[in-house]
Formats: sequence, C-alpha cells, structure tokens
Amino acid sequence: MTRFITRRASLAALGGGAAGLALPANHARAQAPRELRLGLITPPPHTWNQQLAAWGTRLRDASNGRFTVTLFPSGQLGNEAAMLQQLQTGALDLSLLTVSEISNRVDAFGALLAPFIARNIEEAVRMLRHPIALGLLNGLPQATGCVGFRYGMVGMRQISTREVTNTLADLRGKKVRITPAAPTRDFFNLIGMAPTPLPLPAIFEALSNGQIDGVDLDFESIINNRFQDLCRTMLLTNHFMFPAVGLMSARVFGTLAPADRELIRGTMTEALDALCDSMPEREARQGAQLRASNMQVRPTGPEFFGDAVAQFDRAWGPRAPALAQLRAAFPRG
Ligand code: BEZ
Repeated sequence: MTRFITRRASLAALGGGAAGLALPANHARAQAPRELRLGLITPPPHTWNQQLAAWGTRLRDASNGRFTVTLFPSGQLGNEAAMLQQLQTGALDLSLLTVSEISNRVDAFGALLAPFIARNIEEAVRMLRHPIALGLLNGLPQATGCVGFRYGMVGMRQISTREVTNTLADLRGKKVRITPAAPTRDFFNLIGMAPTPLPLPAIFEALSNGQIDGVDLDFESIINNRFQDLCRTMLLTNHFMFPAVGLMSARVFGTLAPADRELIRGTMTEALDALCDSMPEREARQGAQLRASNMQVRPTGPEFFGDAVAQFDRAWGPRAPALAQLRAAFPRG
C-alpha cells in the first residue's frame, strides 16, 4: 500500500522540534545538507529517469532542501553488477536495479523472472504488490547490503528478431540479446536459442551490425532505440514481466535519522507505485505504436514454446520457492 508522509513525519524529518529546545550534537549532524547519488542503467529520456528525477525534487522539497538527489544515468557508474557493489560499500547511495541483477545474487528472485508468470502488465503490477513478492525484499539487506523499498518495472518482454519469425524452429540457434541473469539465460536455452547477455547501452551496436539476431526487450526499450526499424518480427509474447527494485545502500541508510529513513522510504514508495500505476496505459499506447510500424507483430502464447515453461519450473522451483507460490496465487485458468 502507498505510504503517505504525514506533515508530522515531514516535520520530524526536518528535525522540527519545539522552539528553544537544546539539540544534541548528532541532531545537528542529521540536519546537514546531503547529496544522494542515484545510479541508473537507463538513459535520461527513460521513464525510470523521469520518475526518479521527479522523486528527487519531491524529496528535496519535503526535506526543505536538506536532501538533494543527483542522477547518474546510462550506466555512467558501470553496469548493474558494478552499481550493486558500490551500493554494498556505500560508494553509491541509491539505485533502481533490475531484478535480473538481483537474481544473480539471490536465487529466490528468479521467481519474478519465470516465463509466463504474469499474464499481462495489469497482473504484473498486482503481483509485485502481493505479499509473496514484497516478502522477497526482506532478505535483501543480508544478501546484498541494500535496503529494498519497493518494486518498479518496465513493460512486459517480447522477442524481436531481425529476420521473419513464424515458428519456434525459426528461433533455434539464433543469438538473442538478454539482460544478464541466470533465469533468463535458462529460459532461452530451453527454447533452443543462444542467449547473449548484453547490458542495455550495448544493444544498439550489436543489433545494428548483426552480432545478435534478436532481442528480449520491453516496448519502451524497442521504441527508444528504434529497434522496430531493425527487426522484421516481434513475437508479442508477454513472456516475462520485468521488475526492478528501488534500493538504498544499507550502510548509508544506517547513518540516517529514523525520520529521514521514513521520508526516503515513503517518498520512494510513492514514486515507484506511481510508475507501476502508469504502466498499463503506457503499454497500450506503445503497443499501438509498434503495431503501426513496419515490423510484423505476432501475438504468441506459451504453447509456442512447447514444454519449456514446465522445464523451467522444474529447474527453478527448488531455487526460488516463491515461483510455485506465485503460480498458485495467480493461476492462468
Ligand atoms: C534491459 O536490460 O533490458 C533493461 C534494463 C532496464 C530497463 C529496461 C530494460
């Protein structure tokens, strides 16, 4: 549920004690202006960057200018693995990291990357607010040295190929760009493709020069990079949802006054909830834009992939117990 910052909490965050009270030395330290650095893999025009820039303004205003947020976009600070390491040491304060990177550290998050776990974007939004998904965040401080506030997301993933794709046989042996993550790699191996992990900023060149035959991406990433001009087919599969987590370095979080922790957690939660709430409308608009492009868009269901989904569940069920729980809580019917 969205948490609203009450006026009292905001005043507490500002250290708004009664006039004339003597304040302890550590209170004065808590009042010092602080710049928070937030690293992102996505470029400035991306929805995540826009939403988090707006959040930075909100946090600055709510803290009366004590907190300012500086965004480092486009993997400027390194790829997601590097940013996670920086969060762990406290060299970086905040990030919105894909669950792909988190699943490389914590198998349990593989449940959120299972094929056909959510039917569509509306169900994905509901799933990421379900106690099963939210419960996974509790393990993050110990496993990654980060506090996980809330899920954000991009749209559902689709498979787009340079050549025309009609059947599963057309995909066999083809190199498909994936986000570096073990569950994603395993699914594409199971369907007979050659998964090629590449970070987001490296895809354009690889697809343009034919180093890869296709991409596993959401609508926004396709449109922002004009991949509809490079691909002849998009299989409209909705095969994965693509969550991300708003994270703060636990080391940094631990240095904040309790009211400041609540202010950051509360405003970040509001911002990421607003991001998720905006996704169904975006997905409809961007889907229409791609259907109007020259790329052939083929609606494709899980049956296209044979028994790959069942094989995935057999491999990942023991590593990610939330997988079976989510399949039971959101049956496909
Ligand atoms: C990707 O790696 O595919 C990706 C990462 C962040 C946002 C969107 C896409």
